[in-house]
Amino acid sequence: MHRCMTEWAEEYGPIYHVRFLMIHYIVISDPVLWTHVMRSKAVDKYRFIQVYMEPMLCGKNVLTSPTDAHWRMAMDVIGLVGFNKDMGALDHHCAAAGSKRVEDDHTATLLNSTHEITERTKELLRDLKFWKQGTRDGIALLARFRGIIDSLLRHIRQKEVAKGSFADLLLSTFKHVTPEQQADKLMLPEAATLFFAGVDTSGHAATWALYLLLQHPEVEAKVAQELDALELLVTTERPTPRPLQAADLAKLPYLSCCIKETLRLYPAVGIGHFRVNFLQDLTLAGQLHIPKGGAIWLASHALHNASFNWDDPDTFLPERWEQPGTEFALPEKLKLSKEWYEGLHANLSTSGQADDSPGQDGGRPKRYMPFAEGQRDCLGQNLARTFLLATLATLLSRLTFSLGAKMGGPEGVRASEQYTIVTGLKDGMFMHAKSRSTAAG
Ligand code: HEM
Repeated sequence: MHRCMTEWAEEYGPIYHVRFLMIHYIVISDPVLWTHVMRSKAVDKYRFIQVYMEPMLCGKNVLTSPTDAHWRMAMDVIGLVGFNKDMGALDHHCAAAGSKRVEDDHTATLLNSTHEITERTKELLRDLKFWKQGTRDGIALLARFRGIIDSLLRHIRQKEVAKGSFADLLLSTFKHVTPEQQADKLMLPEAATLFFAGVDTSGHAATWALYLLLQHPEVEAKVAQELDALELLVTTERPTPRPLQAADLAKLPYLSCCIKETLRLYPAVGIGHFRVNFLQDLTLAGQLHIPKGGAIWLASHALHNASFNWDDPDTFLPERWEQPGTEFALPEKLKLSKEWYEGLHANLSTSGQADDSPGQDGGRPKRYMPFAEGQRDCLGQNLARTFLLATLATLLSRLTFSLGAKMGGPEGVRASEQYTIVTGLKDGMFMHAKSRSTAAG
């Protein structure tokens, strides 16, 4: 679907209209209009889609709620992660490799429940099909997921939590809510959402990064060089390099470029974002009039991959990020006629909504927004960036990867690529990992 949106953008241009049942969407992949919508306080999440996910995430939460008081309270909470509890993920994984079933551990339940939620967004009546084993398994899985989050909340209530941790913030935000069960009811969906929003997005982004690197040995060699310079790479002379430290992350600019380029080619939320202008009519860039209540579909794969936004959009080129300002739109490439962009700054502040603001960068339009933008951007983006850098640096310093034959080469990968909530693959990505010490020896 995300690729189809990009093809339509190439064919019909950066603005087109799509009708899905009774709903009309204005689909946008023009950077100027994207930036405008993302930063506008006159638009909000399109609730029609979000409401459907709420029961699976244990209730109203920061991801699905409109930009109201509830959302603002949760926004204050999420930012620092850590329940200060060892989930035992690796222990369980090792046990699973022996005798224990993978389904028995918490990590598998958390992962599988994000998949179950994803499946339900594809098959809207899935949970009504009781005669199907898959439905009954899915219901049991979501109940186990809820149980894990419940037990996490009990755990943080009983233990001394680390100052500034997610648990600490969560407890202090809801400490005035009584009785305790009422507060737990409010905390439950926030904790559940954190796992849901953070796991598949980051996991798939790391997978796509490894896939792109194994396809481009020259890029992987440059990453290895960067790791070697920091004495983090396994070599014949250095079979056991020092462990990665937090301070190393700022010294991996080329690997950062690889991550940015991965999120350009495979934006985690590839299909894009659904917004609605709930307050009043909206005029984008002084030209595109969207009546109040109009649905806007910001096509992120198209924004990141359309030829009218990028040179060589299909090429994996981390070097493009070495150029400062790569995330900003190139005025000479913009597809709409000039008058759309004239007086852009004026339009950003007088687009029918007094409190629209040009935002950071003085309203300079962006062609790259993997974590969205504006008041509803990704709350976990710093964590995600840190996770991706640390995980990839650790893996690549010790291992080299090749694509499993089962994938059927790049064509097979492309064919099994799928978008549900996150850009992923039908049956996962099979790769072979080889120790660098074996390769060196
Ligand atoms: C590579 C990893 C990630 C990517 C690409 C990503 C991307 C996004 C995007 C595009 C949105 C906006 C969705 C929309 O407009 O509907 C979003 C929202 C959100 N993300 Fe992430 N995300 C990532 C990782 C994480 C992590 C690790 C967490 C937390 C642990 C997280 C928590 C959230 C939350 C809570 C929201 C909802 C914010 C709101 O609606 O106000 N994300 N993310």
